[in-house]
Amino acid sequence: MAIREILKMGDERLLRVAQPVTQFNTPALHALLQDLNDTMLAANGAGLAAPQIGVDLQVVVFGSGEVNPRYPDAPAVPYTVLINPVLTPLREDQEEGWEGCLSVPGLRGMVPRFTHLRYQGFDPQGQPIERTVEGFHARVVQHECDHLIGVLYPMRVRDFSRFGYTEVLFPGLDDADD
Ligand code: NI
Repeated sequence: MAIREILKMGDERLLRVAQPVTQFNTPALHALLQDLNDTMLAANGAGLAAPQIGVDLQVVVFGSGEVNPRYPDAPAVPYTVLINPVLTPLREDQEEGWEGCLSVPGLRGMVPRFTHLRYQGFDPQGQPIERTVEGFHARVVQHECDHLIGVLYPMRVRDFSRFGYTEVLFPGLDDADD
């Protein structure tokens, strides 16, 4: 297990469409998940996708089970490993909300996301996962799964008057440099 370097926006590896995982419950997959977990925790991230550490696979981890200091007003999201995800919006509605990204340090932007979502995928053992979620949980899943199709949140910002430095937008927030 290790804390890995997080790739930053501009790195072409963040723009790839990630490959599906074909073998579950392997030592290599568990090692990747350990690294994702360790790296996310060290950075106080709300989630992390394999492409962010240079691994070209459809694997994301997100959630914490407790309030995240980078998003103190957000409700807790259960810690989840999601592999080969498929997202299905359940309503047309989108809502704007602030997002940051460990690959875009120091900045936050207002991003539209679907409010209600079903997500499907697999856990590390290859067992199916299916959940219906809304609000911040739905937002986090959409953000992380965007990393698997080469999309970073600034690409979804519509109103660039609400895109800026975290330390300016949210003075006093912990980890304001992420
Ligand atoms: Ni991100």
